[in-house]
Amino acid sequence: MPRKIAAGNWKMNGQRENLRELQRLEDLHGDADIAILICPPATLISACEDTPFDIGGQDCHSAVSGAHTGDVSADMLADAGASYVLTGHSERRTDHGETDALVAAKSVAAIDAGLIAVICIGETLDERESGKTLNVIDTQLAGSLPDSANAQDCVIAYEPVWAIGTGKVPTLEQIAEVHAHIRARLNARFEDGDEFSLLYGGSVKGSNAAEIFGVANVDGALVGGASLKAKDFSPIITALERA
Ligand code: PGA
Repeated sequence: MPRKIAAGNWKMNGQRENLRELQRLEDLHGDADIAILICPPATLISACEDTPFDIGGQDCHSAVSGAHTGDVSADMLADAGASYVLTGHSERRTDHGETDALVAAKSVAAIDAGLIAVICIGETLDERESGKTLNVIDTQLAGSLPDSANAQDCVIAYEPVWAIGTGKVPTLEQIAEVHAHIRARLNARFEDGDEFSLLYGGSVKGSNAAEIFGVANVDGALVGGASLKAKDFSPIITALERA
């Protein structure tokens, strides 16, 4: 069975005072039997060392070290206490021009550093409306997911770009179609394709989490806005525990 993962991506939000939210979450879910992953800004990773939750970076460089001003390597994230890192989030692809090849290189660096790479893929609204969703998913999966990957060190997050931060969510049928497609591609390429955790991301909230987690091949969620406050993230975690 794939691991169930409730993942929160704080993006460029959060200072030390916001770690109180982690304490609140610990009071509610400190002994959860699913994986709870928090990806705070890199500046807060080492300050999370006492949390029972898994901690992840939001990005890493593809190199181990070197002259890359402003960047953070996967080894550094691991040294700071992270066990996961997001790669290829659509905001990185858009804001920083990240290509599938770069996302694959970052994912390899993450795996080499002992991190689990959460590789993000998803179509834009234009691509969906012109019927290209599954082609885009195929291209991104083929290009971003390294051949050396396996279900222990990679997670796939399907995040339609048009659903991120917009309050718009695909229909359950649309989520089911893409997740089944991803599963089939993983099974065709990897012996343990059935074991990869597949997360859905994009405007997941307490009010829609249970129905999304009821969709076949959805093993959890990657949550942005609703992960910032314990009171918003908690119902999502509870819905995943019950799924
Ligand atoms: P959202 O973001 O939950 O705020 O839509 C999801 C993400 O970008 O991972």
